[in-house]
Amino acid sequence: MHIDLTDIALSYDDAGQGTPILFVHGFPHSRRLWDAQVAELAAECRCIVPDLRGFGDSDVRGPYSMDRYADDLAALLDALRIERCVVAGLSMGGYVAFAMWRRHRARIAGLVLADTRAEPDDDEARAKRRKMIDTARGEGMRAVADLMIQGMVGKSTRESNPALADQVYAMLASAPVEGTVGALEAMMDRADSTPTLGEIDVPTVIVVGDEDVLTPPKFARAMHEGIAGSRLTVIPRAGHVSNAEQPGAFNDAVRELLRLLPDR
Ligand code: MLT
Repeated sequence: MHIDLTDIALSYDDAGQGTPILFVHGFPHSRRLWDAQVAELAAECRCIVPDLRGFGDSDVRGPYSMDRYADDLAALLDALRIERCVVAGLSMGGYVAFAMWRRHRARIAGLVLADTRAEPDDDEARAKRRKMIDTARGEGMRAVADLMIQGMVGKSTRESNPALADQVYAMLASAPVEGTVGALEAMMDRADSTPTLGEIDVPTVIVVGDEDVLTPPKFARAMHEGIAGSRLTVIPRAGHVSNAEQPGAFNDAVRELLRLLPDR
């Protein structure tokens, strides 16, 4: 589906009924990242799955920032008349979830923070992003996908399920260049979310693949320590896109979050 919000048109899927969960993809992904969640969980809850601005079938138009992505999603919830929902964000989707918490916390009933981190970029990370911007602009998205695929998908999946690794590669390689550049700049400038951790007082499940080399388990443990009452699930044989690599274990973590919600 396609929806015109105040200044942007976003594409999204809306499947199932019951407690709404807003699934927020990472970088440079699209809503297709969440196919294995929608396939199972739409029988149990309402899955709202948007393409962030600049990705998938949504408009490719700035400005890009974590706050702007968060505001777009709040506008989507308004348009769908959803007052409160669970927000499940993977990696950059987790950075967006933190921005939503700061700007629209009344909308958030619970959080799933997957393969993400609260810390901002350091100088080394910013330098890498500048190089990636040059690669995207100069050589295109296949070159970006070539650089990213090893880190994006865990070693076990690359060995045992090359078809999934190919699907993830295709998703990265088909991302729009300008949306990708906008997201890289937005991630370089993103706020430090470590002070946000202590403010989070809704049920929260933190998930990480034990083979995630982009946001390794130490970052998940730090979030778990910072968010009172949070639960931590470390998924074996999964890398950075743990939800696609081990959907059964990931979906169980989402179900755990649903059970923690006070009034369903
Ligand atoms: C993502 O998957 O969203 C990215 O790896 C996040 C990042 O580069 O910080």
